[in-house]
Amino acid sequence: MSTLDGVTYYKSILDTVGNTPLVQLKETGKGLPCPVLAKVEFFNPGGSVKDRIGLAMVEDMERQGRLKPGGTIVECTSGNTGLGLAMVAVARGYRAAFCMPDKVSSEKVYLLKAFGAEVFLSPTAVEPTHPDSYYSVAKRIAAERPGAVLMDQYNNPANPAAHYATTGPEIWKQTAGKITHFVAGMGTGGTITGIGRYLKDQNPKIQVIGADPVGSILKHYKETGEMSEAHTYKIEGVGEDFIPKALDFSVVDRVIQCNDHDGLNMARRLAREDAVFVGGSAGMATWCAFQAAKDAGPDALVVVLLPDTGERYLTKVHNDEWMRDNHLLDPSATSAASLLGSKPRLRKLISVNAGEPLKRALALIEQHDVSQLPVFSGADVVGTLDEGEVLRTALSDPKALEKPVDSIMGAPLPVVAANEPADAVAKLLAMRNPAVLVKDNGAITGILTRFDMLQFIAGGEA
Ligand SMILES: Cc1ncc(COP(=O)(O)O)c(C=O)c1O
Repeated sequence: MSTLDGVTYYKSILDTVGNTPLVQLKETGKGLPCPVLAKVEFFNPGGSVKDRIGLAMVEDMERQGRLKPGGTIVECTSGNTGLGLAMVAVARGYRAAFCMPDKVSSEKVYLLKAFGAEVFLSPTAVEPTHPDSYYSVAKRIAAERPGAVLMDQYNNPANPAAHYATTGPEIWKQTAGKITHFVAGMGTGGTITGIGRYLKDQNPKIQVIGADPVGSILKHYKETGEMSEAHTYKIEGVGEDFIPKALDFSVVDRVIQCNDHDGLNMARRLAREDAVFVGGSAGMATWCAFQAAKDAGPDALVVVLLPDTGERYLTKVHNDEWMRDNHLLDPSATSAASLLGSKPRLRKLISVNAGEPLKRALALIEQHDVSQLPVFSGADVVGTLDEGEVLRTALSDPKALEKPVDSIMGAPLPVVAANEPADAVAKLLAMRNPAVLVKDNGAITGILTRFDMLQFIAGGEA
């Protein structure tokens, strides 16, 4: 921070890396015996915890004399570390080149290119040792291009060191040394190793807990010292199928595993309940922190690190369709309004007025293929016509078609507010209501049937 004639400012964007806040997870953490505080790393200028190691690894290479003016920063990454390094490269006057598999989303490529970085895409389906793999390409560029250096976050000691020097002391100071448990996801292991080591150096009693996605080998390795087979999972940036050198398991007391469903739905709850908009790995770490907090007692103080912003996952965890297609959507983590928005055929609510004749209702049922027809009197819902009941009445007494709908209508359908969780809708549907109405800003905006709910839960399979 600089001050000149009373003007306070930073000389470089890099001066804003670190010093992120601790925020209590009040709503999602309700009912736990102790507070859970989140170290919210999306406050870094590149939107993730990796800005810290981007800066630290570059400064370390400069100190070693391996990175000189005009040099090129090389790394194999499509993710947050790339963005952190690309930012540091601009601010420090280096070139940057990133190598990644061609399966990465175009947004990630554009993001790196926005900082003027070069991007090399390699075929996804080749072994790491193949000359065309992204790892081999990165090594080749670093070896052949004068002044180019491979950052290698998985093996670079400057990665955990960055957290020992900054994130660890920040948490210690922010909690006035009262922290009892620290929880973080593990990818390279740099975060948990650096912070865990610093915290244990201050107070060896602090529990350091790793969060691991189901499918990764890290939990099994920590507990048995043996390698196992990895399986795919959807949570990004964490979990491995090998043991990175930057991960020192001696500072990790235990590892809690979390599946895709629980981790990703927790990320959605953090946005909806605590207004903390983060990625899937943050949801996983939070879920694990809550498990730890449940056993921790009232005097504990749990800190969980949330690595990045949810904006990087708008087409994934924060997208209802993607969650549904992957059979991960939890109705409690979505609203009645988004349930309505997800209906394959979006249309205005089909309804009749109380005084209209039954034949009008029959025509609407036929024309729009609806099973339930809400009956309105002005802006109020006063009843419901059920397709089966209308047909039965019309067949037994054709003259009834001229009668007003309110003469045969049933009780009105229950109404839920648009912002209520979708599981409230599910509960009402399970209680023999064939459908529920959704109210937004004082007006009924749509109807949700049992079939809509099933389609929502089961995706294209219902
Ligand atoms: C989104 C996200 N979460 C968590 C991590 C894990 O942090 P670390 O690599 O320090 O173990 C990463 C690392 O890539 C990440 O990108």
